[in-house]
Amino acid sequence: MQTPIQQITVGLGERSYPIEIGPGLLQRSPLFPNLPQQILIITNTLIAPLYLAQVKQSLAAHQVVVHEIGDGEAEKSLPNYQAIMDTLISHSFARDCAIIALGGGVVGDLAGFVAATYQRGVTFYQIPTTLLAQVDSSVGGKTAINHQLGKNLIGAFHQPHGVLIDTDCLQTLSARDYTCGLAEVVKYGIIADADFFTWLEQQAGALCARDTSAITQAIKVSCSIKAAIVAADETEQHQRALLNLGHTFGHAIEAADYQHWRHGEAVAAGMVIAATLMEQTGQLASTDLHRIRQLLQQLGLPVEAPQLTLQQWQDYMQRDKKVKAGVIRFILPTAIGQAQMIGLSDWQVIATAINACSSSQPFSKLMLGSADA
Ligand SMILES: NC(=O)c1ccc[n+]([C@@H]2O[C@H](COP(=O)([O-])OP(=O)(O)OC[C@H]3O[C@@H](n4cnc5c(N)ncnc54)[C@H](O)[C@@H]3O)[C@@H](O)[C@H]2O)c1
Ligand SMILES: [Zn+2]
Repeated sequence: MQTPIQQITVGLGERSYPIEIGPGLLQRSPLFPNLPQQILIITNTLIAPLYLAQVKQSLAAHQVVVHEIGDGEAEKSLPNYQAIMDTLISHSFARDCAIIALGGGVVGDLAGFVAATYQRGVTFYQIPTTLLAQVDSSVGGKTAINHQLGKNLIGAFHQPHGVLIDTDCLQTLSARDYTCGLAEVVKYGIIADADFFTWLEQQAGALCARDTSAITQAIKVSCSIKAAIVAADETEQHQRALLNLGHTFGHAIEAADYQHWRHGEAVAAGMVIAATLMEQTGQLASTDLHRIRQLLQQLGLPVEAPQLTLQQWQDYMQRDKKVKAGVIRFILPTAIGQAQMIGLSDWQVIATAINACSSSQPFSKLMLGSADA
C-alpha cells in the first residue's frame, strides 16, 4: 500500500509553514505553492547526481540557478557563503527570489544563512535529504556557518517557507548517517512522548530496515514534537533547550575525538550518561534507563563514551554555551517522555555518571553495542 503524504504545520503566526513528509515528493510539481520566478538551488557534489535532475524537472517553468558546494562539515564556511553571494549578485537575483536547500544539515544551515542575509532576507525552502536534516535541522529556523574558531558561531534565525521531506531520499544515505539520525528520533521520545518511545521500541527492526511507512511515521512524530517546541519558544529562551538532551556530554565526546565520533553517535552516548546520572541520583527509574540503553543499542548506536580524563570532560563541557557561573545546565530525563533543565556544579555527581558509562574499548567495539550483554 502506498504510504500517504503527511503534513504538519509549524505554528508561528504569519510565519507559519508546512512540513510535508512522504515518498516521491521530489517528483511533485509544483514543489511548493507560489514559487517566484528566480530560484537558487544550493546543493552539494554528492547529492546533485542523485536528486538535482528530479528537482530541476519539477521547476522547469522557473529560472533556476544551481550552486554546488563540496561535501562535508568544512563546507559550512565563510568562503562558501561569499561564493554563493557572488552567484546571487552576478545573476541579478532580486529580493523576491527564493533559495532552496537540497541536502543534509550542512547545505541547509549554509543555504539558510544565505537566505537570512541576502538583501536582508529572502524566501527559503528546505528539501532535507538526510534523516538528521529531516527530523531536526530543516525545522525551526536555526541557520549558521562555522568560523575557524568554532562551529555555528555565525548565524541567524530565519524560518523556511516550507519543508519538503521525500522519504525516498533516505534509501541512498549511508548506514552511518541514517543511524545517526535515529539518535535524534529517540531523543524526541525521551524528552516529550512516552508513547512514541514505546512505538520506537516496537518498530526498531522496521526502522533499521528503512521501511518507508515506519520511517514516515517516525519523521512525522519527530517533526511534530520539534514544531510544537519551536512554536512555543522560537529563540530558545526556555523549552527549546530540551532539544539539547545528551548534547552537552555529546559535544564533549565529539570535540575530544572528532575523528571517530559522529554527532548522532556522541548524542546517543550522551543521552545514556544523562539518564545514568538521573538514575544514580534517584530521579529516574532503573527500568527507564535500561529501556533507553536498549533501544539505542537495537538501533545500532553506541551507549558508552570513550575514556576521557575528568579534566577533558570539564574543559569541553565548560566551553559549552549552557554554562553560567560554573553551573552547567544539563537537560536530564525524569522519566521516558519527560526532561528538565537542571543546573549542576557538583563534579562528583557528574563524574560518577560519566565513569559508569565510559569504556576503554576501542571505538569499533563501542559501535557494536557490546555494553548491555
Ligand atoms: N539548524 C539546526 O537546527 C541544526 C540542528 C542539528 C544539526 N545541524 C547541523 O547539521 C549538520 C549535520 O547535518 P547532516 O548530518 O545532515 O550532515 P551532512 O549535511 O554533512 O550530510 C551527511 C552526509 O550525507 C550525504 N548525503 C546527504 N543526503 C544524502 C542522500 N540522500 N543520499 C546519500 N548521501 C547523502 C552528505 O553529502 C554528507 O556526506 C551540522 O553542520 C550541524 O551543525 C543544524
Ligand atoms: Zn543533535
